[in-house]
Amino acid sequence: MAGQLREMGYSPVPDEKSADLVIVNTCAVRGSAEQHALGYVGQLKQLKDQKSSMKLAVAGCMSQEPGTIAWLKKYASHVDLVFGTHNLHELPKLLDEVEERGEMVVDVWKTAGEVVEHLPSQRADGVQAYVNIIYGCDKFCTYCIVPFTRGKERSREIPAIVEEVEALAREGYQDITVLGQNVNSYGHDLTPPVDLADLLVRLEKVDGVRWLRYTTSHPRDFSQKLIDVIAQSHKVTRHVHLPVQSGSNSILKRMNRKYTREQYLDLMERVKAAIPDAVLTTDIIVGFPGETEDDFEQTMDLIKTVRYDAAFTFIYSPREKTPAARWEGRDPVPNPVKKDRLNRLMDLQYRISLEANQRLVGRTELVLVEGLSKKNPNVWAGRTHTNKVVLLERDPDVDLIDRFVPVKITQAKTFYLGGEVVGAPVSERSRRRRVELPLV
Ligand code: 5AD
Ligand code: SF4
Repeated sequence: MAGQLREMGYSPVPDEKSADLVIVNTCAVRGSAEQHALGYVGQLKQLKDQKSSMKLAVAGCMSQEPGTIAWLKKYASHVDLVFGTHNLHELPKLLDEVEERGEMVVDVWKTAGEVVEHLPSQRADGVQAYVNIIYGCDKFCTYCIVPFTRGKERSREIPAIVEEVEALAREGYQDITVLGQNVNSYGHDLTPPVDLADLLVRLEKVDGVRWLRYTTSHPRDFSQKLIDVIAQSHKVTRHVHLPVQSGSNSILKRMNRKYTREQYLDLMERVKAAIPDAVLTTDIIVGFPGETEDDFEQTMDLIKTVRYDAAFTFIYSPREKTPAARWEGRDPVPNPVKKDRLNRLMDLQYRISLEANQRLVGRTELVLVEGLSKKNPNVWAGRTHTNKVVLLERDPDVDLIDRFVPVKITQAKTFYLGGEVVGAPVSERSRRRRVELPLV
């Protein structure tokens, strides 16, 4: 979207007040994010009243939900444009239509067309870049709205991806993340079919790429071939994020996750055996309709068995159109129980995370310095290739932002590590000096 706007002559401004156009790009995965987005749209009414020339658009996954469109029409008539995930390449045409019609334009496609290549793009400068390789999801987990908002899986062709990554590497981007809602089912829809392992092997050969990441994987499609490619790779980072969602077979079945607890544990054993230094992380949902105390205990037990470095934990949130939203009415887990389970889960995970971090003290790791710490400008914040945050005392005489530097880990906390720079940066300075784009 930013790339298309740049071609139309727009440029970023620091805040909404000075903007000619505000696009609220939304996420629909959980209800809390939706409430936040709608609240923000509501707040912008005052600004629109003062400045009628400002245009306001709502985009992203929420626009794909009929409920959102109905809500906006009823309560947010100050919105000028609503468009979805499948027609964002038409943004210039849609903005023209807003000018011509002078009333709310709603243009949301129910289904996705072909993958659109060669759209202009505008990236944040620096060394990190994200590259979409597959859109959509065919898994239909019963709690999840993504298959409805993002449509069926469509993979990009390998040559188009390689061309994009080569161009990024020439510009100085060294930390590349390939993206998909279900990234490791990449390529099954191409002719001839290929897979994520094939793509990673090809991208590994791109000069200038230092770290290669992929997100988000589904355990069912995490093949032994992929594990072996990661194990042998010098660039694919040794961070394996495999959302388990629940440790109970009966819940996994009703979630339609298509694996059992035993199959998942076997997969994790194979990952650990092939990649002994892998950092393992996961996503977990508590309070899925009908989750019993025994089901929840099995999730706790699985966490103790796998010993993840970190887990993203969520309270189940019923989503429009999904099968589980219908069961929620019949068999809900009471809110206080959901909260209690979330707290117990977090307590356990935080303890394990701290122990995992403590084991890194004394080791030297390559750290990509990402910027100044938000809390303390005398501190740099960076990350290891396994995505652990590392805080470093800042030397005001040198600029290490966007550089890869060797760091000795000196301190371990639950959510971050502390370290000291112990050598010169190993990377060239990027040609794309970072300019922060305003994000609200
Ligand atoms: N409620 C709560 N969490 C959800 N997630 C996806 N859908 C829901 C939902 N309806 C979580 C899953 C997923 C992560 C991105 O968000 O854990 O892996
Ligand atoms: Fe949603 Fe992921 Fe399941 Fe797809 S695989 S339906 S994106 S949770």
